[in-house]
Amino acid sequence: MNGLAISPFIAALPKVELHLHIEGTLTPSLRWELAHRNKITLPYATFEDLKASYAVTLNHRPELNGRQPGIPTFLEAYFAGCEVLRTEEDFYDLAMAYLRRCAEMNVRYTEPFFDIQAHTRRGVAATAVLDGYLRAQGDAKCQFGVRSRWILCFLRDEPVAKGLAAYVEARPWAAGTVEGGKGLFHAVGLASNAYERPPMLFEEGFALAKADGLHVTMHCDFGQKDTHEHMHEAIFQVCDGHGSERIDHGLDAEDKEELWQGLVDRKIGLTLCPHAYHRRTATDVLFPKIRRLRDRGVKMCINSDDPTLMHDVWIDGNMQKVYTYCEFSKAEMVQLVRNAVDMCWAEEDVKSAIYKELDEINVLE
Ligand code: HPA
Ligand code: ZN
Repeated sequence: MNGLAISPFIAALPKVELHLHIEGTLTPSLRWELAHRNKITLPYATFEDLKASYAVTLNHRPELNGRQPGIPTFLEAYFAGCEVLRTEEDFYDLAMAYLRRCAEMNVRYTEPFFDIQAHTRRGVAATAVLDGYLRAQGDAKCQFGVRSRWILCFLRDEPVAKGLAAYVEARPWAAGTVEGGKGLFHAVGLASNAYERPPMLFEEGFALAKADGLHVTMHCDFGQKDTHEHMHEAIFQVCDGHGSERIDHGLDAEDKEELWQGLVDRKIGLTLCPHAYHRRTATDVLFPKIRRLRDRGVKMCINSDDPTLMHDVWIDGNMQKVYTYCEFSKAEMVQLVRNAVDMCWAEEDVKSAIYKELDEINVLE
Protein backbone atom coordinates (compact mmCIF):
# COMPACT_ATOMS: atom_id res chain seq x y z
CA MET A 1 0.00 0.00 0.00
CA ASN A 2 2.75 2.48 0.90
CA GLY A 3 5.73 2.88 -1.32
CA LEU A 4 5.72 2.32 -5.05
CA ALA A 5 9.04 2.58 -6.85
CA ILE A 6 9.22 6.01 -8.49
CA SER A 7 9.53 5.68 -12.27
CA PRO A 8 12.12 7.80 -14.12
CA PHE A 9 9.25 9.69 -15.82
CA ILE A 10 7.64 10.71 -12.51
CA ALA A 11 11.02 11.52 -10.94
CA ALA A 12 11.97 13.86 -13.78
CA LEU A 13 8.56 15.55 -14.10
CA PRO A 14 8.68 19.22 -13.02
CA LYS A 15 6.28 19.54 -10.07
CA VAL A 16 4.19 22.05 -8.16
CA GLU A 17 2.99 21.28 -4.62
CA LEU A 18 -0.11 23.05 -3.25
CA HIS A 19 -1.10 20.93 -0.24
CA LEU A 20 1.73 20.37 2.21
CA HIS A 21 1.82 21.08 5.93
CA ILE A 22 5.37 22.14 6.76
CA GLU A 23 5.05 20.66 10.25
CA GLY A 24 4.14 17.37 8.55
CA THR A 25 7.59 17.26 6.92
CA LEU A 26 9.48 17.01 10.22
CA THR A 27 11.58 13.85 9.89
CA PRO A 28 12.39 11.65 12.88
CA SER A 29 16.07 12.56 12.47
CA LEU A 30 15.49 16.34 12.49
CA ARG A 31 13.11 15.94 15.42
CA TRP A 32 15.78 13.97 17.29
CA GLU A 33 18.41 16.61 16.49
CA LEU A 34 16.17 19.53 17.55
CA ALA A 35 15.19 17.77 20.78
CA HIS A 36 18.90 17.54 21.65
CA ARG A 37 19.59 21.11 20.55
CA ASN A 38 16.74 22.43 22.71
CA LYS A 39 17.35 20.03 25.61
CA ILE A 40 13.89 18.49 25.32
CA THR A 41 13.35 14.94 26.52
CA LEU A 42 11.31 12.96 24.01
CA PRO A 43 9.12 10.11 25.27
CA TYR A 44 11.28 7.64 23.30
CA ALA A 45 14.40 5.99 24.70
CA THR A 46 16.09 5.49 21.35
CA PHE A 47 16.02 6.93 17.86
CA GLU A 48 14.65 3.59 16.64
CA ASP A 49 11.70 3.93 19.03
CA LEU A 50 11.04 7.44 17.76
CA LYS A 51 11.15 6.22 14.17
CA ALA A 52 8.74 3.41 14.97
CA SER A 53 6.23 5.94 16.35
CA TYR A 54 5.84 7.37 12.82
CA ALA A 55 3.94 4.29 11.73
CA VAL A 56 0.84 6.33 12.58
CA THR A 57 -2.38 5.18 13.28
CA LEU A 58 -5.37 4.67 11.22
CA ASN A 59 -7.72 6.07 13.84
CA HIS A 60 -7.56 9.47 12.26
CA ARG A 61 -11.03 10.36 13.55
CA PRO A 62 -11.52 9.14 17.12
CA GLU A 63 -14.86 10.96 17.25
CA LEU A 64 -16.13 8.65 14.54
CA ASN A 65 -14.14 5.47 14.97
CA GLY A 66 -13.40 5.38 18.68
CA ARG A 67 -10.04 5.52 20.39
CA GLN A 68 -7.41 2.85 20.44
CA PRO A 69 -5.87 3.06 23.90
CA GLY A 70 -2.24 4.15 23.87
CA ILE A 71 -2.23 5.04 20.16
CA PRO A 72 -2.25 8.73 19.30
CA THR A 73 -4.53 10.05 16.60
CA PHE A 74 -2.95 11.41 13.48
CA LEU A 75 -3.30 15.03 14.60
CA GLU A 76 -2.03 14.23 18.10
CA ALA A 77 1.12 12.76 16.56
CA TYR A 78 1.44 15.80 14.30
CA PHE A 79 1.15 18.34 17.14
CA ALA A 80 3.43 16.26 19.41
CA GLY A 81 6.15 16.60 16.76
CA CYS A 82 5.85 20.39 16.90
CA GLU A 83 7.09 20.35 20.50
CA VAL A 84 10.78 20.40 19.42
CA LEU A 85 10.32 23.55 17.31
CA ARG A 86 11.30 26.47 19.52
CA THR A 87 13.61 28.98 17.86
CA GLU A 88 13.80 30.82 14.55
CA GLU A 89 16.67 28.50 13.61
CA ASP A 90 14.45 25.45 14.19
CA PHE A 91 11.72 26.74 11.86
CA TYR A 92 14.36 27.73 9.31
CA ASP A 93 15.95 24.27 9.42
CA LEU A 94 12.55 22.57 9.08
CA ALA A 95 11.64 24.66 6.04
CA MET A 96 15.05 24.36 4.40
CA ALA A 97 15.01 20.57 4.76
CA TYR A 98 11.67 20.44 2.92
CA LEU A 99 12.67 22.96 0.24
CA ARG A 100 15.97 21.13 -0.35
CA ARG A 101 13.98 17.97 -0.84
CA CYS A 102 11.71 19.84 -3.27
CA ALA A 103 14.76 20.55 -5.43
CA GLU A 104 15.70 16.84 -5.35
CA MET A 105 12.15 15.86 -6.41
CA ASN A 106 12.01 18.52 -9.16
CA VAL A 107 9.36 20.55 -7.32
CA ARG A 108 9.79 23.98 -8.86
CA TYR A 109 7.23 25.86 -6.80
CA THR A 110 5.34 25.11 -3.59
CA GLU A 111 2.71 26.71 -1.34
CA PRO A 112 3.33 25.24 2.12
CA PHE A 113 0.76 25.56 4.91
CA PHE A 114 1.93 26.65 8.33
CA ASP A 115 0.07 26.55 11.65
CA ILE A 116 1.15 29.61 13.60
CA GLN A 117 -1.23 28.84 16.50
CA ALA A 118 0.33 25.40 17.05
CA HIS A 119 3.46 27.26 18.15
CA THR A 120 2.24 30.44 19.82
CA ARG A 121 -0.08 28.43 22.09
CA ARG A 122 3.06 26.66 23.38
CA GLY A 123 4.68 29.99 24.19
CA VAL A 124 6.82 30.27 21.05
CA ALA A 125 7.06 33.81 19.68
CA ALA A 126 5.24 34.34 16.38
CA THR A 127 8.32 36.19 15.09
CA ALA A 128 10.46 33.04 15.50
CA VAL A 129 8.08 31.07 13.27
CA LEU A 130 7.53 33.78 10.68
CA ASP A 131 11.14 34.98 10.42
CA GLY A 132 12.40 31.40 10.20
CA TYR A 133 10.09 30.63 7.27
CA LEU A 134 10.73 34.00 5.62
CA ARG A 135 14.50 33.44 5.67
CA ALA A 136 14.05 29.94 4.26
CA GLN A 137 11.77 31.31 1.51
CA GLY A 138 14.56 33.64 0.36
CA ASP A 139 17.46 31.23 0.80
CA ALA A 140 15.71 28.32 -0.96
CA LYS A 141 15.01 30.52 -3.96
CA CYS A 142 18.69 31.50 -4.19
CA GLN A 143 20.30 28.22 -3.20
CA PHE A 144 17.95 25.64 -4.73
CA GLY A 145 15.90 27.63 -7.26
CA VAL A 146 12.72 26.54 -5.41
CA ARG A 147 10.08 29.27 -5.15
CA SER A 148 7.47 29.31 -2.43
CA ARG A 149 4.45 31.33 -1.35
CA TRP A 150 3.12 30.26 2.01
CA ILE A 151 -0.40 29.80 3.47
CA LEU A 152 -1.32 30.67 7.06
CA CYS A 153 -3.84 28.17 8.41
CA PHE A 154 -6.47 28.87 11.02
CA LEU A 155 -6.73 25.95 13.44
CA ARG A 156 -10.43 25.20 13.03
CA ASP A 157 -10.75 23.33 16.35
CA GLU A 158 -9.53 26.40 18.25
CA PRO A 159 -11.85 29.36 18.99
CA VAL A 160 -12.36 31.62 15.99
CA ALA A 161 -11.20 34.67 17.98
CA LYS A 162 -7.79 33.05 18.52
CA GLY A 163 -7.45 32.48 14.79
CA LEU A 164 -8.31 36.09 14.05
CA ALA A 165 -5.76 37.29 16.63
CA ALA A 166 -3.11 35.03 15.09
CA TYR A 167 -3.86 36.51 11.68
CA VAL A 168 -3.53 40.07 12.97
CA GLU A 169 -0.19 39.23 14.60
CA ALA A 170 1.15 37.56 11.44
CA ARG A 171 -0.21 40.21 9.07
CA PRO A 172 3.11 42.15 8.72
CA TRP A 173 4.56 38.99 7.08
CA ALA A 174 1.72 38.83 4.51
CA ALA A 175 1.81 39.72 0.82
CA GLY A 176 -1.31 40.98 -0.97
CA THR A 177 -2.04 44.63 -0.40
CA VAL A 178 -0.65 44.75 3.14
CA GLU A 179 1.48 47.89 3.27
CA GLY A 180 5.10 46.99 3.99
CA GLY A 181 4.11 43.29 4.07
CA LYS A 182 7.16 41.03 3.99
CA GLY A 183 5.65 38.68 1.40
CA LEU A 184 5.83 35.34 3.22
CA PHE A 185 2.20 34.27 2.92
CA HIS A 186 -0.22 34.91 0.09
CA ALA A 187 -3.27 33.07 1.38
CA VAL A 188 -5.09 31.73 4.39
CA GLY A 189 -6.27 28.16 4.87
CA LEU A 190 -8.31 26.15 7.34
CA ALA A 191 -6.73 23.07 8.92
CA SER A 192 -6.80 20.69 11.90
CA ASN A 193 -9.79 18.74 13.17
CA ALA A 194 -12.95 19.47 11.16
CA TYR A 195 -15.27 17.62 13.54
CA GLU A 196 -18.28 19.93 14.01
CA ARG A 197 -16.19 22.89 12.78
CA PRO A 198 -17.68 23.85 9.39
CA PRO A 199 -15.95 26.43 7.16
CA MET A 200 -18.57 29.17 7.67
CA LEU A 201 -17.45 29.54 11.30
CA PHE A 202 -14.30 31.21 9.93
CA GLU A 203 -16.04 33.59 7.52
CA GLU A 204 -14.67 36.61 9.39
CA GLY A 205 -11.12 35.32 8.96
CA PHE A 206 -11.64 34.80 5.24
CA ALA A 207 -13.04 38.31 4.95
CA LEU A 208 -9.99 39.79 6.70
CA ALA A 209 -7.67 37.96 4.33
CA LYS A 210 -9.66 38.96 1.24
CA ALA A 211 -9.66 42.60 2.35
CA ASP A 212 -5.84 42.34 2.47
CA GLY A 213 -5.72 41.02 -1.10
CA LEU A 214 -4.88 37.46 -0.03
CA HIS A 215 -6.24 34.19 -1.41
CA VAL A 216 -8.43 31.71 0.46
CA THR A 217 -8.41 27.92 0.55
CA MET A 218 -9.79 25.42 3.06
CA HIS A 219 -9.67 21.77 3.98
CA CYS A 220 -12.72 19.59 3.42
CA ASP A 221 -11.31 16.32 4.71
CA PHE A 222 -12.24 13.01 3.10
CA GLY A 223 -14.73 10.94 5.11
CA GLN A 224 -15.30 13.61 7.74
CA LYS A 225 -18.60 13.90 9.61
CA ASP A 226 -20.92 16.32 7.77
CA THR A 227 -18.50 16.22 4.86
CA HIS A 228 -21.12 17.13 2.22
CA GLU A 229 -22.42 20.06 4.28
CA HIS A 230 -18.87 21.33 4.73
CA MET A 231 -18.24 21.06 1.01
CA HIS A 232 -21.48 22.87 0.26
CA GLU A 233 -20.38 25.76 2.47
CA ALA A 234 -16.90 25.85 0.91
CA ILE A 235 -18.25 25.88 -2.64
CA PHE A 236 -21.33 28.09 -2.32
CA GLN A 237 -21.34 30.05 0.94
CA VAL A 238 -17.92 31.20 2.18
CA CYS A 239 -16.35 34.47 1.07
CA ASP A 240 -19.66 36.23 0.85
CA GLY A 241 -21.16 33.53 -1.37
CA HIS A 242 -18.26 33.51 -3.85
CA GLY A 243 -16.87 30.25 -2.48
CA SER A 244 -13.33 29.18 -1.71
CA GLU A 245 -10.73 29.59 -4.45
CA ARG A 246 -9.47 26.04 -3.91
CA ILE A 247 -10.47 23.13 -1.68
CA ASP A 248 -7.91 20.93 0.05
CA HIS A 249 -8.96 17.26 -0.34
CA GLY A 250 -12.68 17.59 -1.17
CA LEU A 251 -12.88 14.09 -2.64
CA ASP A 252 -16.36 13.54 -1.20
CA ALA A 253 -17.75 15.93 -3.82
CA GLU A 254 -17.81 12.89 -6.07
CA ASP A 255 -20.86 11.59 -4.17
CA LYS A 256 -23.22 14.42 -5.12
CA GLU A 257 -23.80 16.01 -8.49
CA GLU A 258 -24.63 19.37 -6.93
CA LEU A 259 -21.14 19.43 -5.38
CA TRP A 260 -18.97 18.25 -8.24
CA GLN A 261 -20.97 20.35 -10.68
CA GLY A 262 -20.48 23.32 -8.34
CA LEU A 263 -16.71 22.75 -8.41
CA VAL A 264 -16.75 22.65 -12.21
CA ASP A 265 -19.03 25.68 -12.63
CA ARG A 266 -17.12 27.79 -10.11
CA LYS A 267 -13.72 26.59 -11.33
CA ILE A 268 -12.68 25.50 -7.84
CA GLY A 269 -9.76 23.07 -8.00
CA LEU A 270 -9.05 20.26 -5.52
CA THR A 271 -5.61 19.70 -4.00
CA LEU A 272 -5.69 15.92 -3.60
CA CYS A 273 -3.30 13.80 -1.52
CA PRO A 274 -3.92 10.23 -2.72
CA HIS A 275 -1.75 8.41 -0.21
CA ALA A 276 -3.56 10.10 2.69
CA TYR A 277 -6.78 8.40 1.52
CA HIS A 278 -5.12 5.19 0.38
CA ARG A 279 -4.05 4.56 3.98
CA ARG A 280 -7.66 3.77 4.77
CA THR A 281 -9.39 3.19 1.42
CA ALA A 282 -9.16 0.20 -0.89
CA THR A 283 -7.26 0.73 -4.13
CA ASP A 284 -10.23 -0.25 -6.30
CA VAL A 285 -12.51 2.21 -4.51
CA LEU A 286 -10.18 5.19 -4.27
CA PHE A 287 -8.53 5.50 -7.65
CA PRO A 288 -11.68 5.03 -9.76
CA LYS A 289 -13.23 7.79 -7.62
CA ILE A 290 -10.36 10.15 -8.49
CA ARG A 291 -10.70 9.20 -12.16
CA ARG A 292 -14.46 9.84 -12.19
CA LEU A 293 -14.01 13.29 -10.66
CA ARG A 294 -11.37 14.09 -13.25
CA ASP A 295 -13.57 12.76 -16.09
CA ARG A 296 -16.43 15.00 -14.96
CA GLY A 297 -14.20 18.01 -15.41
CA VAL A 298 -13.19 18.75 -11.82
CA LYS A 299 -9.75 20.34 -11.82
CA MET A 300 -7.29 18.62 -9.51
CA CYS A 301 -3.63 18.38 -8.66
CA ILE A 302 -1.56 15.87 -6.68
CA ASN A 303 0.23 16.59 -3.38
CA SER A 304 1.59 14.91 -0.26
CA ASP A 305 -0.12 16.54 2.81
CA ASP A 306 2.08 15.32 5.73
CA PRO A 307 4.68 13.05 4.15
CA THR A 308 6.74 12.07 7.20
CA LEU A 309 3.59 11.05 9.09
CA MET A 310 2.23 9.28 6.03
CA HIS A 311 4.80 6.52 5.61
CA ASP A 312 7.33 8.82 3.99
CA VAL A 313 5.34 9.09 0.77
CA TRP A 314 6.21 12.49 -0.75
CA ILE A 315 4.75 14.24 -3.81
CA ASP A 316 6.64 11.96 -6.20
CA GLY A 317 5.20 8.88 -4.46
CA ASN A 318 1.71 10.39 -4.58
CA MET A 319 2.06 11.10 -8.30
CA GLN A 320 3.34 7.58 -8.86
CA LYS A 321 0.19 6.25 -7.17
CA VAL A 322 -2.19 7.95 -9.59
CA TYR A 323 0.08 7.12 -12.53
CA THR A 324 -0.07 3.46 -11.55
CA TYR A 325 -3.55 2.99 -10.09
CA CYS A 326 -5.58 5.50 -12.16
CA GLU A 327 -3.62 4.29 -15.19
CA PHE A 328 -3.15 7.84 -16.38
CA SER A 329 -1.02 8.35 -19.47
CA LYS A 330 2.12 10.49 -19.48
CA ALA A 331 0.12 13.27 -21.14
CA GLU A 332 -2.50 13.04 -18.38
CA MET A 333 0.21 13.23 -15.70
CA VAL A 334 1.63 16.34 -17.36
CA GLN A 335 -1.90 17.77 -17.36
CA LEU A 336 -2.13 17.23 -13.59
CA VAL A 337 0.97 19.38 -13.14
CA ARG A 338 -0.45 21.96 -15.55
CA ASN A 339 -3.57 22.02 -13.37
CA ALA A 340 -1.39 22.79 -10.34
CA VAL A 341 0.19 25.70 -12.22
CA ASP A 342 -3.29 26.97 -13.17
CA MET A 343 -4.43 26.66 -9.54
CA CYS A 344 -1.35 28.18 -7.90
CA TRP A 345 -0.78 31.76 -6.81
CA ALA A 346 2.72 32.24 -8.20
CA GLU A 347 3.95 35.26 -10.15
CA GLU A 348 3.16 35.09 -13.87
CA ASP A 349 6.83 34.63 -14.86
CA VAL A 350 7.18 31.64 -12.53
CA LYS A 351 4.02 30.09 -14.00
CA SER A 352 5.17 30.71 -17.58
CA ALA A 353 8.54 29.06 -16.94
CA ILE A 354 6.86 25.91 -15.60
CA TYR A 355 4.29 25.77 -18.42
CA LYS A 356 7.17 26.02 -20.89
CA GLU A 357 9.02 23.13 -19.27
CA LEU A 358 5.82 21.05 -19.36
CA ASP A 359 5.27 21.83 -23.04
CA GLU A 360 8.71 20.47 -23.82
CA ILE A 361 8.15 17.03 -22.27
CA ASN A 362 7.93 14.20 -24.75
CA VAL A 363 4.86 12.28 -23.63
CA LEU A 364 5.09 9.71 -26.43
CA GLU A 365 8.38 8.10 -25.44
N1 HPA B 1 -6.02 17.34 8.00
C1 HPA B 1 -6.36 18.48 8.59
N2 HPA B 1 -5.48 19.28 9.14
C2 HPA B 1 -4.20 18.96 9.10
C3 HPA B 1 -3.78 17.80 8.50
C4 HPA B 1 -4.75 16.95 7.91
O1 HPA B 1 -4.42 15.89 7.34
N3 HPA B 1 -2.45 17.76 8.62
C5 HPA B 1 -2.07 18.86 9.27
N4 HPA B 1 -3.13 19.60 9.56
ZN1 ZN C 1 -3.88 18.85 4.68
